[in-house]
Amino acid sequence: MKSIRDCYTLSNGVTIPCMGFGTYNAKGGDNLAINRTAIEAGYRYFDTASLYETERVLGQAVRESGIAREEFFIVSKLWIDERGYREAKEAFARTLERLQMDYLDLYLIHWPRGEEGDTDWKEKDLDTWRALEELCESGKVKGIGLSNFLPHHTEHILKNCHIKPVVDQLEIHPGYTQEAAVRYCMENDIRVQAWSPLGRSAMLDHPILKEYAATYKKTVAQICLRFLLQKGIIPLVKSSSMERMKQNQDIFDFEITPEDMSILNNMPQNTWLGEHPDFAIPKKRSNFAQ
Ligand code: A2P
Repeated sequence: MKSIRDCYTLSNGVTIPCMGFGTYNAKGGDNLAINRTAIEAGYRYFDTASLYETERVLGQAVRESGIAREEFFIVSKLWIDERGYREAKEAFARTLERLQMDYLDLYLIHWPRGEEGDTDWKEKDLDTWRALEELCESGKVKGIGLSNFLPHHTEHILKNCHIKPVVDQLEIHPGYTQEAAVRYCMENDIRVQAWSPLGRSAMLDHPILKEYAATYKKTVAQICLRFLLQKGIIPLVKSSSMERMKQNQDIFDFEITPEDMSILNNMPQNTWLGEHPDFAIPKKRSNFAQ
């Protein structure tokens, strides 16, 4: 990979850029302006979700850019309360309406299960998946996938699907590498994407990472992103500033040595951000912050 526009080929033959821009609400930020700036900074792969409430402004920024829709790679997700066969189809229609687009590049199930009491989550995920398969067959979405699914969630889909998930989007950064989930995805030809690749900025002051930043003459953010790139994981990075948006793309002119990759892979695993698909399930839209 030589730039953020270079692509991997997913298991269904669709090509996907090696880095994307996360549109989750910047604190107090103007999301329309942020998306416009990200397009200007060169990002073409945008990750949104019905949860984020950024679909409308992203659609507007894309339209106003004057750049053809086909130049973009647009991914959205349905939330916990949109799971189910009919619900998923309705959620997808709302997403397209908000984006003012007639297709998506990828559509994902955002979260595998609901709160305590969601005992039929496996069935619900499967009903949802059937709806996504039909959307895929109709050509309204080029690929379908998962987000925050751990191996035991994904297994149920893989055993019962006729269209395989092509991606799984997980929280991954140095200090929280989710080796078992990543290995499972790789074994099943599911490309991993990383949300909060900087640990929602918590990693930026980490002493080990600061040391590596000094060694490689890069910033800590660049070390985190390059680390993911070398693992074949797609980072979905967020920023509200043009300078940092550009800095985050400047990761193709250096290489982390295998020994340093091993050290970064094996850093103390203590920087998890607090949401967990089985044990810390977000209760409502309003108290969740991916
Ligand atoms: P800002 O909007 O001020 O750039 P994550 O993607 O892991 O959730 O992290 C997002 C946070 O990281 C945002 O608060 C963003 O702040 C900050 N950030 C993004 N890129 C950089 C960078 N290159 N250097 C420092 N902070 C960054």
